[in-house]
Amino acid sequence: TDIPVIAIDGPSASGKGTVAALVARALGFHYLDSGALYRLTALAAQRRGVALDDEAALAQLARNLDVRFEGGEIWLDGERVSDELRTERIGNGASKVAALPAVRTALLERQRAFRQAPGLVTDGRDMGSVVFPDAATKIFLTASAEERAQRRYKQLMEKGFDANLSNLLEELSERDARDAARSVAPLKQGADAILLETTHLSIDQAVATVLACYQARQ
Ligand code: C5P
Repeated sequence: TDIPVIAIDGPSASGKGTVAALVARALGFHYLDSGALYRLTALAAQRRGVALDDEAALAQLARNLDVRFEGGEIWLDGERVSDELRTERIGNGASKVAALPAVRTALLERQRAFRQAPGLVTDGRDMGSVVFPDAATKIFLTASAEERAQRRYKQLMEKGFDANLSNLLEELSERDARDAARSVAPLKQGADAILLETTHLSIDQAVATVLACYQARQ
């Protein structure tokens, strides 16, 4: 297909979701937060009492998720779950289910279905490497672990959740290590991805850089 995709991959709490959503808005493109699908699978498992290592049952859950994305909010089984999805508990669960090949396969077609005219901006770990290998623009967006912990801390506080900075730093590091070490679709910068280091960049600067990379390829 010639529908353009901008793939933004990177570690947790790097700000890639915020940047991707703003790039999508600037271009009038659709937006897919692929991490939300792994988080939704973990949340659905928690609610149904499915163990986080029961690969077959989790793949089945992932395939049949009753989910709705609308106006920046996410619904699971008809209930708004956007805030609960962002907690570290669910992020950690997501990272566990995401290491299972059958779960990744179950979510593949669902992700590709978001590729609709006039274009798609998506963020995750393997958007440029596995899900949309023909993406027009591939970005690896990162920031130092300390900065990422700060960003997640702020985000959680703004949503009214309790958070502890040093615990967050530890949890993020643990999650990144697991995401990088897994055998399927590990977190790493692809050879064809542009590195965008945002530790000292504002959100607007990061958005402008992604837009410039995309426009330079047209
Ligand atoms: O990006 P986010 O923090 O929401 O992702 C949650 C978890 O889902 C990640 O830690 C990662 O293990 C997994 N994930 C993935 N592939 C993606 C997006 C997320 O494995 N494309």
